[in-house]
Amino acid sequence: MFKARIIGTGSTTPKRILTNTDLENIVDTSDEWITRRTGIKERRISQKGKGEKAFDLAADASLKALEMAGMGPDEPDLIILGTITPDRQFPSVACMVQDKINAVNANAFDVSAGCSGFLYALSIAENAIATGGSEKALVIGAELLSSVANWEDRSTCVLLGDGAGAVVLGRSDKDEGILSSHLGSDGRYWKLLYSEEGTPDPPKILEAFEGKPYYLAMEGNKLFKKAVKHLADVAMEALRHNNLSGSDVRLVVPHQANIRIIEALADRISLPMEKVYTNIHKYGNTSSASIPIALDEANREGMLRPGDIVLLVTFGAGLTWGASVVRWSLDIR
Ligand code: COA
Repeated sequence: MFKARIIGTGSTTPKRILTNTDLENIVDTSDEWITRRTGIKERRISQKGKGEKAFDLAADASLKALEMAGMGPDEPDLIILGTITPDRQFPSVACMVQDKINAVNANAFDVSAGCSGFLYALSIAENAIATGGSEKALVIGAELLSSVANWEDRSTCVLLGDGAGAVVLGRSDKDEGILSSHLGSDGRYWKLLYSEEGTPDPPKILEAFEGKPYYLAMEGNKLFKKAVKHLADVAMEALRHNNLSGSDVRLVVPHQANIRIIEALADRISLPMEKVYTNIHKYGNTSSASIPIALDEANREGMLRPGDIVLLVTFGAGLTWGASVVRWSLDIR
């Protein structure tokens, strides 16, 4: 059995910034409420005709990750992409990325697991590498959540943003890289967060936005409690599995859904917020893209050193959740 190690990270977000103040012109809300209840100050919104579809963002993030890995696009043998907002019903966004970056030697497919899509994809790629089915894999999370926002629902549209992040995995025979991944789901609660048929009118301020024929519906309060419980439980399960405790962790990179959920997670696993990476103030909730974007930013900011223990942890529609423990082995300094 081999280990899968992260050898490159990359991310990208659309250019257009939508601030909380902009949102005050769309729904009955305020910068003060959004900041206090969610931690979000602004988010990035993809615009029509600007080359910012999910596959464009995913391709750009992938090329950055491949460049860091020192790998050509023809080297990955596997591309797995997590998304709930694919550009088309089919083919997969992964295949469109394969075409755009010319990754001619890969098998490519998408994974739908709500906001847990990236960690589900990472776990599949990790297993493929561990068992010898893959040597070099590209794992991506890419979303245009703005395209499924209901711009008349102030309790959801203020949360969502767009972006993509990617990691390149390589094979290792040392005790490094992804030490273990832990996934869970509970379909009994799918109605807490789901897509509803319909196309809400986009607000004038976003005249060039890219809409889909369905929108996101959510029971925020109930979901909040489920999120905190499952995030904390799966984080503890992942640490215990590796005989680690919170004090061994250098950095937690959680899914960025709400700063209060992240703070509650940190509290439950007894970790100070200094050990938790957050960028929700800049991007809002970007679903499957949030962890790879945050991981890339933490990596490029020089926060990670070889040997550091990094805990990735997520929760999303489905319900789904997951955690991966990584012994970091990439040094970009
Ligand atoms: N601006 C101003 N007021 C708002 C608002 C907004 N954008 N959104 C909701 N409100 C109002 C509500 O209408 C309600 O008003 P009322 O008391 O007069 O009825 C009040 O604020 C409180 O609403 P509530 O839903 O209890 O707020 P909350 O503190 O639970 O925050 C969420 C709402 C959505 C931010 C929060 O529940 C959440 O983050 N849930 C989980 C999200 C999540 O996990 N998402 C996906 C997982 S990947």
